Amino acid sequence: METDKKQPMVQFKGILKRFGNVVAVEKMDFDIEEGTLVTLLGPSGCGKTTLLRMVAGLEEPTEGDIFIKGVRINDTPIHKRNLGMIFQNYALFPHKTIFENVAFGLKYRDVSKEEIKKKVTRALEMVRLPGVEGRMPSQLSGGQQQRIAMARAIVIEPDVLLMDEPLSALDENLREEMRREVDNLQQMLGVTTIFVTHDQREALSMSDKILVMKDGQKQQEGHPEAVYNEPINHFVADFLGHSNFIRGEVVDVDNHHVNVRIETGDILIAENKGGFSQSDPVEMIVRAQRFDAFPKDEFKPVEGMNHFQGRIKDRSYMGGEVSYFIELSADREIHVISLMRTRIYDIGEEVSVQVSPHHCHLIPME
Ligand SMILES: Nc1ncnc2c1ncn2[C@@H]1O[C@H](COP(=O)(O)OP(=O)(O)O)[C@@H](O)[C@H]1O
Ligand SMILES: [Mg+2]
Repeated sequence: METDKKQPMVQFKGILKRFGNVVAVEKMDFDIEEGTLVTLLGPSGCGKTTLLRMVAGLEEPTEGDIFIKGVRINDTPIHKRNLGMIFQNYALFPHKTIFENVAFGLKYRDVSKEEIKKKVTRALEMVRLPGVEGRMPSQLSGGQQQRIAMARAIVIEPDVLLMDEPLSALDENLREEMRREVDNLQQMLGVTTIFVTHDQREALSMSDKILVMKDGQKQQEGHPEAVYNEPINHFVADFLGHSNFIRGEVVDVDNHHVNVRIETGDILIAENKGGFSQSDPVEMIVRAQRFDAFPKDEFKPVEGMNHFQGRIKDRSYMGGEVSYFIELSADREIHVISLMRTRIYDIGEEVSVQVSPHHCHLIPME
């Protein structure tokens, strides 16, 4: 018996969901710890919503079990699962007041009028909109309506808060603001939250844990930094940010480093995190932000770093940074995103590119 480990708040055990011939979620095992915010991240159609709807009780698993606080809930009706839900079209009732909207979740519970009033007031304070009880939804801005939807979800003091792309309908600035709002509220309440998104930045910035999904299958789960810095396969690396994939073969391994001959013939060094041996075909993953580009004439190579020559093929100015495509030999190009520490390079200019072995991550060639 493991006695020191806390019971997870939510557990998926061998969860599978089929719609006719479509397998929407495949044999999923996954735990969510109490008080954490977990993001289901993946492209459209990968099964995120289906997984969430099974927790909510809006879909029934074809196989497997879902537990909340250790209790199997497969057969528990929706209204007996103590869950708060916020979906993309958060749809407040337009003809009801804010008070009625927020109080809605308490209607079928055994709560006195006095208690309802207190809880609604408190929920509106939590989302930093105190005193709007008497207004109508149309009198509030989009962001404020979103916060009312949050108040409605938390007023019942749910065991788990379920959010399905709640921010995707908002414009970029408001989304950023609401992202922080959700994050703060979740931490303040300490409520276990499952947050669905296809936006990697949203996932990286908010989550205690990310579950990356593809075609109904779990690809990787972990802390944002682990998933970002140590993706286990091509898909995860590609989905979470601007990755360069450099194909090569392991030529040498020692305790600290793996030497890889890449397509250009250059040998690049990666930190040895284990799992690779001589002549293994590999892909080296380097984030575009990890390369440093220098004018060729001014470049002084640093011992132990990887460096190679290239020519600026394309560039786009993005305000705080510049995105370059740099041509190496052998038709190989790399994507480099450079914070403008130096000047902007011209198209055709020769540059030296440097990257630390620490930022060269290896995965097996697929
Ligand atoms: N009610 C349904 N009937 C048939 N197929 C469905 C249904 N709901 C979802 N699917 C299919 O299941 C897969 C996963 O869908 P979904 O969970 O909505 O993905 P996501 O939320 O990641 O975009 C998709 O192939 C989708 O077409
Ligand atoms: Mg969805």
